[in-house]
Amino acid sequence: MHRNRKLVLGLGLMAFCITQAANGADLKSVIEMPDASAILKKDRLAPPKKYTMPAGCITTDLSAIARGEYIFHNLNGKKAKKSPPKGLPKYIVVNGKKKPKQYGNCVACHNIEGAIGGGNIGPDLHRYKELFIDTGVRSFQYVYQHIADPRVHNKNTHMTVNLTTGLFTPREICEIASYVVSDKKKD
Ligand code: HEC
Repeated sequence: MHRNRKLVLGLGLMAFCITQAANGADLKSVIEMPDASAILKKDRLAPPKKYTMPAGCITTDLSAIARGEYIFHNLNGKKAKKSPPKGLPKYIVVNGKKKPKQYGNCVACHNIEGAIGGGNIGPDLHRYKELFIDTGVRSFQYVYQHIADPRVHNKNTHMTVNLTTGLFTPREICEIASYVVSDKKKD
């Protein structure tokens, strides 16, 4: 009797182990088990990158400044106010699909002349030319770098990375920078 019970227990344990092993194998075949670390690696931002401002980057050309202004004050093509100025598309094609073009939405964090609901996570950029450029506190190169990749100036910045991420082209960064440093009407 005692012996039999041991045998039954032993057989039961064996059966349990076999089912577990089979279940394990089954689960692996039906449940996708992606390597999370590989995914995280792929999504990780590229390291901070230093840029040299291209020649002729900062301009007083009004149409370039208008594009910079539009990018600064808008989020994306779908939610953007009015039509974008000449030379700036509302939609772009990515992998054969039409998508609203992403703009800078800088007003989410910065206040500036004409901002509607400007945020205060970043510094107020009102009178930027007068206060920071004309006084020599900031250079055009600094502004270009900060918009392109602010992590070079502050590794823990909360600001968006715009050039290293490919969100904008160098020309667009120049247009946004030109808007920031432009002489604006007081409001
Ligand atoms: C999520 C918030 C956020 C967004 C969006 C944002 N910024 Fe910033 N910005 C900051 C913060 C915070 C700083 C302060 C410096 C730092 O930590 O990077 C800053 C600093 C700056 C400076 C440097 C000011 C100086 O002289 O020290 C400029 C210029 C600037 N931002 C422009 C822009 C532009 C242009 C955009 C849109 C393309 C933008 N920012 C979008 C948060 C933001």
